[in-house]
Amino acid sequence: MTRHFLDIPELTADELRTVLALAERADLPQPLAGKGAALIFEKPSNRTRHSMEMAVVQLGGHPVYTRGEEVGLDVRETVEDVTRVMAGYHAVLAARVFQHSVVERMAAVSDVPVVNMLSDHSHPLQALADVLTMQQVHGDLAGHTVAYVGDYNNVSRSLAEACVLLGADVSLGCPVGYCADDAELERLNSLGAGTVRQVHRAVDAVAGAVAVHTDTWTSMGQEAEKAERVKVFEGYTVDPAMMALAVPGAGFYHCLPAYRGYEVAAEVIDGPQSHVIRQAHNRMHAARGLMAFLLGVR
Ligand code: CP
Ligand code: NVA
Repeated sequence: MTRHFLDIPELTADELRTVLALAERADLPQPLAGKGAALIFEKPSNRTRHSMEMAVVQLGGHPVYTRGEEVGLDVRETVEDVTRVMAGYHAVLAARVFQHSVVERMAAVSDVPVVNMLSDHSHPLQALADVLTMQQVHGDLAGHTVAYVGDYNNVSRSLAEACVLLGADVSLGCPVGYCADDAELERLNSLGAGTVRQVHRAVDAVAGAVAVHTDTWTSMGQEAEKAERVKVFEGYTVDPAMMALAVPGAGFYHCLPAYRGYEVAAEVIDGPQSHVIRQAHNRMHAARGLMAFLLGVR
């Protein structure tokens, strides 16, 4: 059966550990030798495009970057037609989309793996790199507290899911209206050995955390809400005073792109506790491990 990767919980905890182990393996076979991977982007990207393209090359394959407007998903032809056609050329189809339902529709008709490269709902490739980096810095995440401060969005959803699967305790500090609702908290808490709690004051979220994450307050597609969001998120900037409330030497993480002076102070993201460049580089290793896994490498 074709394995897709639209969301973290499609993996069991053991499978997630396998993907992370594959990400760190230097002797991977080349399951994409002589094959293609289509990378379709409806939104801009630096890390995701480059890390996926290079991961495809490292697995022996040839990436084909395609802008969403070029294929015209549901404009020039249906998502289903695009997918069925491309699945005949490529061994992997990956897409960055506005609506999560687009990657779901792709997976429904594709007989090759479909990978979500970010949607309005989730960013599972990012979460793989996030937990890979935290494991490298802090060791096994089980029993550790991982804090996320800011908007409960695609990045924090996938991060929380991956952390729970690995047995970490997630502490969300998100304002009312931009936070996980009770059903979402219940769902997250049912996924694995870890736990998720949520508070609405950012400073209450970081106590005891070995890792502090944040993300932009205004995601791609939400630009019109920026002024309102800047007001709502006042007090949610990860600054040196907030980092001082976490465990001494706690790591700072951000998926990037980052907006200094908004969700994070320059002293933090550019300071000694920041792991954001390693985290970005791990996007390539995580993508390689994930695609190898989907193609049957163990
Ligand atoms: N973190 C991330 O997905 O970055 P890009 O938008 O640059 O791909
Ligand atoms: N939450 C951000 C992540 C960017 C990588 C967005 O969706 O724009």
